[in-house]
Amino acid sequence: MRNYQYKGVKKSIGIYERAGEVIPGYTQLRSRLASGFAEGVSPIYADHAKGSRFVDVDGNEFIDWVNAVSAIILGHHDDIVDDAVKEQIDRGSIYTVNSPKEVELAEELIDTIPSAEMVKYGKGGGDACAIAARIARGATGKDIILFSGYHGWHDWYQSANYLDFPDLVTGVGGMGVPKVLAGTAIPFGEFDIDKLQDLFDEHKGKVAAVMMEPVRSTDPPEGYLESVKALCHKNNAILIFDEVSCGWRIAIGGAQEYYGITPDMTVVAKCISNGYPMGAVVGKREFMKSAEDMFISSSYWSDNVGLTASITTIRELKRRNSPESFKEKGENIRAAIKEAINDVGISADVTGLFNNPGLHIDLPDESLRPKVNTLFIQEMAKRGIHTTGRFMATLAHTDEDIRATAEAARESLKVVRNGLEGNLDDLLEAHEQRESIQRIVR
Ligand SMILES: Cc1ncc(COP(=O)(O)O)c(C=O)c1O
Repeated sequence: MRNYQYKGVKKSIGIYERAGEVIPGYTQLRSRLASGFAEGVSPIYADHAKGSRFVDVDGNEFIDWVNAVSAIILGHHDDIVDDAVKEQIDRGSIYTVNSPKEVELAEELIDTIPSAEMVKYGKGGGDACAIAARIARGATGKDIILFSGYHGWHDWYQSANYLDFPDLVTGVGGMGVPKVLAGTAIPFGEFDIDKLQDLFDEHKGKVAAVMMEPVRSTDPPEGYLESVKALCHKNNAILIFDEVSCGWRIAIGGAQEYYGITPDMTVVAKCISNGYPMGAVVGKREFMKSAEDMFISSSYWSDNVGLTASITTIRELKRRNSPESFKEKGENIRAAIKEAINDVGISADVTGLFNNPGLHIDLPDESLRPKVNTLFIQEMAKRGIHTTGRFMATLAHTDEDIRATAEAARESLKVVRNGLEGNLDDLLEAHEQRESIQRIVR
């Protein structure tokens, strides 16, 4: 039994107030905004992390189900990756000439990802998506990119805010992005093959690529990915899978390996480097080769720290037999939370694939969703669990972590049930959740 003493988050709140004065929007990553959790109760600043847990600046220890929004895959502060990085730092974090590790990682990625024949690097997911968009446009000589899912902060993607769709991030438009880019990146909904067909028809001969997350948290319908690929090829467009978030918990090599469908190009980040900045675009030689004639270049894309972290992380995922382990952990947490739901007798379910299962509470009225989410996150935080309502494991999560999480969920769901039967406001200690990133846009 975990004997948990929640100490409050006074120090976190103090630092956050200082942040508000010196950092526009408080933080560099919107997913770390306090308003996306139970603000006032959830941790905002961490002091250190190890394995499946972190300790915040107020001294609370949390079992972490967010894992740096999937950037941590082996577990926090993994000894093998971190030792390899430290050893590399002692030999130089970046050289004047190239590092042989640049080639070594490229070969490892080519061995691992079905679509990989050549490789370019970036420092993160958005970076790598922008590189992929540039290569696709350069290789085809066409401008339009049709997309589904979230692909980062760069102009090519954020220009879609000027189209007649909901904002990519609720309440945040395209401010700062050149309006002349409007119409160069156009969304279609997850699994909406008819819309994709219509867009190809409407923009005949102008579509360079389709960039999509092949899976987020539910399996694509039978034949969907194949149909997208066929449509792309019929229209001489490149199919790019963005595997930054779904990446590698379902299979080493990604969703393309799991579903057996090979795109033309792929974007990976996060899962390849266990928390060190690194991203990559890989793809067929015929498209990647054209990058030779484009200006795609930056000082830190092949620094030794990122390269070493990636090579070691990928080899460790393979050595630790990660797909079986993620499947087992994902199914176990799903079963444990379902049991908690049944014990409490609340109308709810655990939805999504094993790589990122999530709690879904049935509500009489959808407008209650932010309050109910906040209450659940708040109650879990008070019991030492950091979650948005989803439970994405790392290889470091143990049976004991799952048991303690399910126990906390049982208690938290009781509070939610009482709130739904009575008054949610009476139970809310935190500010109601305000931040939600619209990952899949229509
Ligand atoms: C699918 C996908 N693509 C791209 C990105 C952007 O990655 P980064 O935040 O490293 O720029 C993310 C980030 O969550 C993502 O989920």
